[in-house]
Amino acid sequence: MGVSLYCVGGFVRDLILGVDNFDIDLVVEGDGEQLANLLAEKYGGKARIHERFGTAMVVLPDGFKLDIATARTEYYEFPAALPTVEKSSIREDLYRRDFTINTLAICLNKDRFGDILDHFGGQKDIEEKIIRILYNFSFVEDPTRIMRAIRFETRYGFTIEPDTLRFAKDAINRRLLGQLSYKRILQELTLILNEDDPIPALQRMVEIGVWQYILPEVNLAEISLTKLKRAPVLTAWYKERYLIVDVKMWLIYIMLILSKLDKESVDNVIERYHFDKYAQKALEETFLVPDIVALLKNNINISTSEIDKMLTNWTREGLIYLLLFVTNEDAYNNLVTYLDRKEKIEVKTTGYDLKALGIKPGPIYREILDLLYQYKLDGKINTIADEIDFVKNWLKENNQ
Ligand code: CTP
Repeated sequence: MGVSLYCVGGFVRDLILGVDNFDIDLVVEGDGEQLANLLAEKYGGKARIHERFGTAMVVLPDGFKLDIATARTEYYEFPAALPTVEKSSIREDLYRRDFTINTLAICLNKDRFGDILDHFGGQKDIEEKIIRILYNFSFVEDPTRIMRAIRFETRYGFTIEPDTLRFAKDAINRRLLGQLSYKRILQELTLILNEDDPIPALQRMVEIGVWQYILPEVNLAEISLTKLKRAPVLTAWYKERYLIVDVKMWLIYIMLILSKLDKESVDNVIERYHFDKYAQKALEETFLVPDIVALLKNNINISTSEIDKMLTNWTREGLIYLLLFVTNEDAYNNLVTYLDRKEKIEVKTTGYDLKALGIKPGPIYREILDLLYQYKLDGKINTIADEIDFVKNWLKENNQ
């Protein structure tokens, strides 16, 4: 197509840092839409075009995605910086970005393949572990960048450069974070809470004055650091033990962060941030935890099926949160036994089996299958043969 193509942003940053990153962002000095269509044609994928933003996405047959942006050529804001519009469009595209560490590009054209474009000292800042904005109005233009700076700082162990920090604090003092929608704040907070270790970022948000715009009703110093630190460890254990991928780590942190608030305050937070039904359910479960913890501690001979009655349909996040609060060893073991059985147990008997035993279809089926589940949870029956024997005995006892 005779256009210049670059790989840009986070991917290049992480390539230099030696960190895995599978989000490929491409910028083309030319027609991004046309390039996307051509790539999809050549490699058999699908192109999705977002005309409004001048971006496109190519989904390759194996599911791998490529984001393609068109370097904008009409830069009226900084006309003086442009020797010629054509040549400088990638430079201008990179200049609009948040931090120098994200402004690196690698040329993908054959004759310049692998050449690094480093207009703003990104490589040096990566070497010196510095987060630096490119222009003074960066945080004014986009206050979410304050939270991004904190996220990158803690993710890579970098430091926000003093002038950049001054501009961030200035933007905070001018209440610019207050102008953001809660939706955008929640997006950024979620990204922070999904980092491997978000605790330094939380502390940094308090230190710089960001926290008062996020959850002013929460005093982070009151939240148990032990629990915050144990949460990801326990979650990793849970996911590995039960082969579960989808646990919302950010939500568990939110549950812990809100754990000192009363119901009314939590409801206010739910409303303010428009938490979805699932997150609402998990947050509601947290209010049941103190009673359940006490009950488990005072009844160490409780059966697994009795535990199940309290926790049926709980979210996984709710269960992990509960584990964090159970300190009594016997109670903890009982809970783990419950989780083990719950994740592994399956009632093998079906409606057809019950019919074959001569039972007339009706609500009684549910009753029998529920009973089977409870007996299996309690380890009283194990095999399918046990199940059928159980049903036969039950029929005799109930004169059916
Ligand atoms: N960007 C920006 N301002 C924002 C968000 C993003 O300038 N508020 C720019 C950044 O330069 C970034 C690029 O857009 O490199 C892509 O954004 P994103 O995918 O969110 O960032 P990554 O740097 O890839 O970060 P992550 O590794 O967390 O995905």
